[in-house]
Amino acid sequence: MTSKTAPRDYTFIAPLYDHVFQTFLSEGHHDISEVIRSLKNKRDSKILEVGVGSGLTLPHIPSTINYTGIDINQRMLQEAQKKRKLLGRRKVTLEVMDAKKLAYKDNTFDLVVAASVITAVDSPLKVMKEMIRVTKKGGMIAIVANLQESDTLKSRMVRIFDPITRKYLGFRTDLDLNQIQKLRNIKLVDYKRTNNILGFPLSSFLLFEKG
Ligand SMILES: C[S@@+](CC[C@H](N)C(=O)[O-])C[C@H]1O[C@@H](n2cnc3c(N)ncnc32)[C@H](O)[C@@H]1O
Repeated sequence: MTSKTAPRDYTFIAPLYDHVFQTFLSEGHHDISEVIRSLKNKRDSKILEVGVGSGLTLPHIPSTINYTGIDINQRMLQEAQKKRKLLGRRKVTLEVMDAKKLAYKDNTFDLVVAASVITAVDSPLKVMKEMIRVTKKGGMIAIVANLQESDTLKSRMVRIFDPITRKYLGFRTDLDLNQIQKLRNIKLVDYKRTNNILGFPLSSFLLFEKG
């Protein structure tokens, strides 16, 4: 069972975020972008990115696609707005919003994505449920997250560092794949390890279909 924790406030890191994290997270952004690009020719597709942050996925989004990015942090969204303007993306909308309470109707989006967000929020399963709710039936949900795969010696060791990673790095290490797979109305269709640094994968990429 996951416990709640206050999310990290990204306000101070926002201007430096890309310099600090882009390299570590680029493989995961590539994985998410591949799924987004698969909708390139479906012009009416609607995509939601939860916790869009500084907008590191924006350069990979086809200009034909209706894309909405939300984040709880205004300062991170300012960084994303700068990228949106530079790229001249008119079909991109960026909004301040709490992922625990998405202001969209049920079954709105064809694809909902979240990169390195689920383990950075205070209620990961609540956020996942919201993402599932706003995805259309037959639509997809893609996430990148640092999940534990099972109750192995390694996963138990990693969990020991949970209070430290939460306090100083802003992410949790106590969320496991089973907890997410138990959620209703989704089926796992793709899974792989990602964000490899020196051969050590920091995260997992998961693609779900909503049933
Ligand atoms: C580690 S950053 C990831 C940002 C971006 N997705 C990326 O891959 O670079 C986590 C992001 O989640 C956002 N966040 C945390 N809690 C949130 C919430 N409850 N609702 C929306 N966004 C949230 C933070 O403000 C931050 O921008």
